[in-house]
Amino acid sequence: MNFERPNIKTMKGYKPGEQTEGSGIIKLNTNENPYPASPAVAATLKNLDAENLRRYPPPLADSFREAAAKLHNVNENNIIPTNGGDELLRLAITTFVDPNEKILVTQPSYSLYPVLTSIQGGILIQIPLQQDWSMPSDFEVSLTSSGAKMCILVNPHAPTGKLLDTDYLARLADSFQGILLIDEAYVDFVDPDFQYNSVSLIESNENILILRSLSKGYSLAGLRFGYGIGPQHLLEPMLYKTRDSYNTNTVAQHLATAAIESADYAHSTWDRVRKSRSVLTDGLNQMGLNTVPSQANFVLCQVPNSISAKGLYEGLKRQNILVRYFDQDRLKDRLRISVGSDTENTALLEAIHSLIKT
Ligand SMILES: Cc1ncc(COP(=O)(O)O)c(C=O)c1O
Repeated sequence: MNFERPNIKTMKGYKPGEQTEGSGIIKLNTNENPYPASPAVAATLKNLDAENLRRYPPPLADSFREAAAKLHNVNENNIIPTNGGDELLRLAITTFVDPNEKILVTQPSYSLYPVLTSIQGGILIQIPLQQDWSMPSDFEVSLTSSGAKMCILVNPHAPTGKLLDTDYLARLADSFQGILLIDEAYVDFVDPDFQYNSVSLIESNENILILRSLSKGYSLAGLRFGYGIGPQHLLEPMLYKTRDSYNTNTVAQHLATAAIESADYAHSTWDRVRKSRSVLTDGLNQMGLNTVPSQANFVLCQVPNSISAKGLYEGLKRQNILVRYFDQDRLKDRLRISVGSDTENTALLEAIHSLIKT
């Protein structure tokens, strides 16, 4: 007997990167921040009383909403707290996209988008990026003529780290009839020189929804906390109709609030990651593993045929170094490597050096 809906029966599930417990592993495969969360988060965790868990949490995570609104200089009604950024994707798709409506993404991008589209019974349109991973010049035309209900763009892009500017995003939103969901899971690592800030776009474009995550920038991947920023009319159906009754838990609400209230600390980790990114990029390039210039906390590099990306991934794994290998079109000859601490990056570069020599 099989009770699955036909689309669930035929779809493939999301395949997360390997997760490990214990020490001795250099883990550069799922883009976690190499530095711990702010001391304010640790202090808040220590002071939490188990007695508080007897009661349900505030359903809308009011304290977090207030702190996030202050951080972004928007109204609380422009913030929806979620159980990781992933929950925002699921909420947005299930709230706005009917089965058989289209969702447009670039190819490649975050592999959860096709999975969530399949669950909803939506139709996925994938627009291939150019050879250098930039957007096709006719992307705007493809988007507007697609009839898609939603377009999801990850910015900076995953898995390349390429950044689109806000003028371009505003132009796309202006000409698009559907919702433009800008997935900014990695935005904290963008070089401040770019002065990138898409939040102001929600005032002028009523079809823009922004995803933020505390997993990478705030070193809280294990907490599962993210949020959406958007115009009130887009958030309201998710806040008051489709969200789980208590979608974020008490512990997560307290720690997430402490994290963004002490954002200065997180900023210091972003600076360190950016500096290390540049050293890692240079090191990889010097060994002939050409990289795409990245504004995220990972780097995509091309591996010479002599060793192959899969071979290098496996060789590194034997040395307890985990990186990400995607067995998919256009990525088979590449590895995505998260920026680690300086010690981890040095160990990685040395391991690669010895593996490509042999
Ligand atoms: C592109 C992208 N978007 C969103 C997410 C969701 O992050 P989280 O659910 O951990 O907040 C991730 C996580 O890996 C990601 O890579």
